[in-house]
Amino acid sequence: MLPELLSLVVREGVLERSRALSVFGVDELCEALHRELGYDFFRGNRRRMLRLLIDLLVERGWLEPTRSGDRWSCRRDGIPLPGESPAGATEGDGQVDFFRRCLRLVPGYLRGEEAPIAFDAENVRVWEEFLGCDEFQACRSVLLDRMASTSGASASLLDLCYGPGWGIERAMDRWPEARITAIDFTDVFAANAKCRAERGHARNAVRGRPSSPVEWFGPSDWKGFGYPLPFPEGAFEAVLFSCGDPYIRPDARDAVYADLRRVLAPDGTLGILTRGYPDPEHRHVPSHWLRVTALIHDFTESVCAGWHGFPDVGENQAMFSRLGFRGAWNPGGAMNIMDSALWILKKR
Ligand SMILES: C[S@@+](CC[C@H](N)C(=O)[O-])C[C@H]1O[C@@H](n2cnc3c(N)ncnc32)[C@H](O)[C@@H]1O
Repeated sequence: MLPELLSLVVREGVLERSRALSVFGVDELCEALHRELGYDFFRGNRRRMLRLLIDLLVERGWLEPTRSGDRWSCRRDGIPLPGESPAGATEGDGQVDFFRRCLRLVPGYLRGEEAPIAFDAENVRVWEEFLGCDEFQACRSVLLDRMASTSGASASLLDLCYGPGWGIERAMDRWPEARITAIDFTDVFAANAKCRAERGHARNAVRGRPSSPVEWFGPSDWKGFGYPLPFPEGAFEAVLFSCGDPYIRPDARDAVYADLRRVLAPDGTLGILTRGYPDPEHRHVPSHWLRVTALIHDFTESVCAGWHGFPDVGENQAMFSRLGFRGAWNPGGAMNIMDSALWILKKR
């Protein structure tokens, strides 16, 4: 995706405007792009998208930060070519197709069009293909294996924001005896997710490891992040929260995770699949290509309704400690691994 995104930056004239400003801060670049390209930075997450772009261009050596770190200039030694991305699937991968679809929508979105991809009936298929990609499925497996090994075999598991149901299917495969409850704030995914759960159920029966039926909760039970979950205190021994964290409003993060802690049993496990925002110190997200991927993912998914982006990892760790979670990846008590994409927490 990197060459495609960089060529958009050139085509749209963002690079040219940055060069013309010589040294600039976010405000000055916003103003120039608003005036000359008609970008609308006054609503939603568009200003944040510009910051993502700046961080990506710094990462790839196109921009250089000044010593203060909050102003930038174009590199004097010319603009390096996009460079080779590591080899990987480019055709037919649900993730790449999704990012391409989003990228095509970016110019209109930056000029003020409404977020074109929402969690609605029109986009069920789009989410289905994106979220079923190999990378997310592999991450869910790692997360669920770890969760199963730190909880009881027949633990009660909540899949928070089940979406198309890929997490449920994976949970039935990796953790067949878990008793699954699934909740989402929309029911547009319910039919597909139920089919997926039925298939998992049938596969388990054939393998001689019967699983319990899934319990379903929808929009009549829960209005989404910021509203309390419709479950009593300590209802679940584990919660799987995959690819939903960036849809939590920043000012609601504390309340959402405090409520998740409430529904967990003592010593219950919370497993999260997300990404960390690449930190300037390269401490939490050290690998170059994972930093680049996180920035591209965050930038492109910004055209989806309700996207608030990947969280700051240091802030996340502080929040989880403050709310009464501890890290449980390993005996050392790490909260997160894989450049902060996977988190395992225990309720203290
Ligand atoms: C990217 S999908 C992930 C779905 C699923 N967990 C997975 O891993 O495939 C994000 C999920 O968050 C839900 N969601 C989005 N915004 C939400 C909100 N404001 N409150 C509650 N759920 C939300 C969507 O319905 C969707 O199921």
